[in-house]
Amino acid sequence: MAELQELCQTAGLEVLATTHQRLEAPNPVTFVGSGKVNEIASLLACYDCDTVVFDCELSPSQQKNLERKLAKDKQTVSVLDRTALILDIFAQHAKTREGKLQVELALNQYRLPRLTRMWTHLERQSGAGGVGLRGPGETQIESDRRLLSDRISQLKVELEYVRSHRARQRKKRRHFEVPVVSLVGYTNAGKSTLLNALTHAQVLVQDKLFATLDPTTRRCRLPGLHVHPDILMTDTVGFIQKLPTTLVAAFRATLEEIAAADILLHVVDISSPSFESQQQAVMEVLKEIGAAEKTMITVWNKIDLCRGKSDEIRLKAAQIDKHVAVSAVTGEGLQDLVYILEETLSYQLYPVEALIPYSRCDLLPRIHQYSILDVEEYRADGIFILGRTTRSVALLLAEYRLVEDNNQPIYLYSNQRNDLDIKQLEEDQEWKRLAKGRHPQRQ
Ligand code: GTP
Repeated sequence: MAELQELCQTAGLEVLATTHQRLEAPNPVTFVGSGKVNEIASLLACYDCDTVVFDCELSPSQQKNLERKLAKDKQTVSVLDRTALILDIFAQHAKTREGKLQVELALNQYRLPRLTRMWTHLERQSGAGGVGLRGPGETQIESDRRLLSDRISQLKVELEYVRSHRARQRKKRRHFEVPVVSLVGYTNAGKSTLLNALTHAQVLVQDKLFATLDPTTRRCRLPGLHVHPDILMTDTVGFIQKLPTTLVAAFRATLEEIAAADILLHVVDISSPSFESQQQAVMEVLKEIGAAEKTMITVWNKIDLCRGKSDEIRLKAAQIDKHVAVSAVTGEGLQDLVYILEETLSYQLYPVEALIPYSRCDLLPRIHQYSILDVEEYRADGIFILGRTTRSVALLLAEYRLVEDNNQPIYLYSNQRNDLDIKQLEEDQEWKRLAKGRHPQRQ
């Protein structure tokens, strides 16, 4: 309920009273029992307010029934559910074209089954400019529904274009092998503050839920990682418990950026009493968008608010793999975060074990720049190297690799990268061999 109050305030509503009810199962007609409906009606009268917000998803008929029962002396009462409230906040905060398109799609999908409630409103609209839009034999509600469905289809087409544009950008980034780190986390966990602290960006920071909706990408320098000193860091939409599914579906283009990242930084507000359930909610959304298995560093943020306990929390984080405790505001622990990030990114490189003939010494400067070598030995028959390297250097060294187990490329023993990368790497190698005319006979 505290979170719902915050959501209401973010949406611009003033909360005057709250109430709750424990029920075995929701009432199919009015969600809460009839006694509770009467209680809400008297609260409305007492505080002279005209909006009721439910912390759940109401069916269109429950919403309609509640509005009818709660209307007082011809004065209408708006009944909103959690989904409508979140959609409203998103609509207020969407700034870019992509954000606006996604919010409009989610809003229209939410409105479609609830169209009866807006009938009079749309009727007026149609009288003003919709004449001639109605097909033969269509009732008002049918033509309104058709108009809305048409708009939904049009928005989907426009968003598909946005998605393909984003996919092209990602491909370009991949070509230049710039690692991408995506910040994910519960709303208000401090993602934008952390991005600002790490990259000196000027991303909007507000003590409001869903202040950031559109992805912001900034360059971040990791001096210890000589292979990739510059990485890209993306801040994107925050998650919340019971995030409306229409919203998750509509925000596909934005959420795909998360799924395509090399590493996720999961920012958790460790000072919140409900940090565990918030963490759980984030993991559920990640699962929904197919990003739950990605390499993740958990960042316990806001340790400055855990008075007297920050050392204990930092020690606890240090004892868990890929966990770190920081304060994005005071800068405490940020150095540890940079170390973990550098280490994790270096493990994302491709393992390589190769014997380079002396005739190819020209490759060495590139190998040294883009690899972390554990062994470099000058042997009689060539230079032996063992370590990790970038994708392009791994490809370059494909023909000098040392171990050839049943013709399997050595990269296959890496489980650091996802299957897609490995497949792509193998395909590239195939083409390389074909081009050089020493590809084994195809069946
Ligand atoms: P959404 O845009 O809603 O997803 O939020 P966000 O996760 O980007 O959070 P944001 O960075 O906007 O921070 C939310 C609030 O928490 C702001 O008031 C920040 O000043 C505050 N905050 C962030 N990090 C810290 C921290 O380490 N310590 C303290 N005390 N406050 C912090």
